[in-house]
Amino acid sequence: MNKKIIEARNIVKTYPENGSVLEVLNGVDFSIEKGQTVAVIGESGSGKSTFMHLLGFLDKPDSGEILFYGDKVKEKKLAEFRNKHIGFVFQFHYLLNDFTAVENVAMPMFIKTKDWKDSLSKAENILDKMDILKRKNHYPNQLSGGEQQRVAIARAMINNPDIILADEPTGNLDEKHSDEIMKLFLDLNQESAQTLIIVTHNHNIADLMNKKYEMKSGKLVEIL
Ligand SMILES: Nc1ncnc2c1ncn2[C@@H]1O[C@H](COP(=O)(O)OP(=O)(O)OP(=O)(O)O)[C@@H](O)[C@H]1O
Ligand SMILES: [Mg+2]
Repeated sequence: MNKKIIEARNIVKTYPENGSVLEVLNGVDFSIEKGQTVAVIGESGSGKSTFMHLLGFLDKPDSGEILFYGDKVKEKKLAEFRNKHIGFVFQFHYLLNDFTAVENVAMPMFIKTKDWKDSLSKAENILDKMDILKRKNHYPNQLSGGEQQRVAIARAMINNPDIILADEPTGNLDEKHSDEIMKLFLDLNQESAQTLIIVTHNHNIADLMNKKYEMKSGKLVEIL
């Protein structure tokens, strides 16, 4: 069996730019085995978020392919696949403004199970671990940036995804909460062999991961 839970092969990604082309990724190769943890660092604008979106099947490469245990994911199954297997923590958390914190967290589980009561109770459980249960009935615009971040992380965790893709998840957090969140990520990794790919500018966090990569000149280079 292919142990590589996710693999990127020769990924090229460009964006149109005033009549010319901005080449962001020009041949990225990457793979990670189930249960591994990886940090991606790199300068602002180097293509880290672009890469994460591709790994999470939220966007498509110009060429190259992303495989899950060696297989392509069928176009028609993408939404279901993402909800089941991938927990995405966005750099700019996209919470639903018309829903409270606990409802935001419960949503992916509700979509999967159709059980609102169970989903809310699991959501509360995770919010509690994130030290934010007392804010559960607040709407996103009534939460601080760091609180929103924690709600977004809780939402990414609720379905126990095989892979957590976290794009600067602790960017808005103070040291105490940042440490707590990292502990939560790493506990999950230990307990349920959850695979973790995290973009960070924080070298202390990067050092906690099994492997480190740098995005540079459109390529991903392992830091040994
Ligand atoms: N939708 C888009 N259209 C055009 N250009 C884009 C788009 N998204 C990103 N870019 C450009 O692609 C490059 C890579 O962006 P990306 O967001 O991947 O960088 P990053 O490494 O995540 O940076 P940061 O550390 O600041 O988050 C940047 O120069 C950015 O301006
Ligand atoms: Mg980014």
